[in-house]
Amino acid sequence: MPDLNGRTIEAGAFKSVGFIGGIYSNYLALGKALELLKGRVDTVVALGDFGAFGPHPDRTLEILREREIAAIRGNYEEALAAGADDCRCGYTNPRDNEFAQLSYDYTKAKTSREHVEWMGSLPAHIRLSIAGKRILLCHGSPRRVNEFLWESATPEPFIKKMLDDHETDLIVCTHTGLHWSRFIAPGRGVVNVGALGRPANDGTPRVWTAVIEEKEGAPAVRFLPVEYDFERLAREMESEKLPPEFIETIRTGWWTTCLEMLPAKERAAGKF
Ligand SMILES: [Fe+2]
Repeated sequence: MPDLNGRTIEAGAFKSVGFIGGIYSNYLALGKALELLKGRVDTVVALGDFGAFGPHPDRTLEILREREIAAIRGNYEEALAAGADDCRCGYTNPRDNEFAQLSYDYTKAKTSREHVEWMGSLPAHIRLSIAGKRILLCHGSPRRVNEFLWESATPEPFIKKMLDDHETDLIVCTHTGLHWSRFIAPGRGVVNVGALGRPANDGTPRVWTAVIEEKEGAPAVRFLPVEYDFERLAREMESEKLPPEFIETIRTGWWTTCLEMLPAKERAAGKF
């Protein structure tokens, strides 16, 4: 098995797995998602980007570590563990980068050293299987931690090549904040589990988690909406003097920042 861009852990076979995408310090949604998944899945895996955007980053890390949630590192964990000056989010637009920098500086200042050391110990990928299909968990894509895999820009030949190149049947990722899946055959394809940290740019404050489980002999995905006390999170973000643009997104469900990297189809689905 190739070790891709860092350490890969072999986790074994499961019947059902719950996935937590970018948490972005939304510890209230994390608590609700774990309640929702409890008893429904064999295990839960967090796919990185625990900080950014929201308030009090250590609260999310305490929950993940106390409950011993399996985790891979995202670009945020890589950047913090390396002591980098920016989040390595992969944005190219100056306004997007300005907001990303505000988030990163806040998160870096507020994350305890012990949690940063833990981030440095996380693997880049986890491999497991469901219904006999090989599943590769990554943050952005198997080849780059901050690659954006969008639904409208991930054609079937590209999916097939990624699966072949990385010796897997299914790729499970996050990083974009939007959940989607595309199967090119039963149990073969890509699942982006979306994000717990901010809404899916759909005009509602709910966020998303995902379950992959055996169905008719192959792994299938189910996305689950997570309702949480978004008003409490918004008030805490105000107290922490986080950007009003971020707080508006938490309350309205519409993205106000980091829009420039969206492909035309995903951009047209939002308000801005
Ligand atoms: Fe990310």
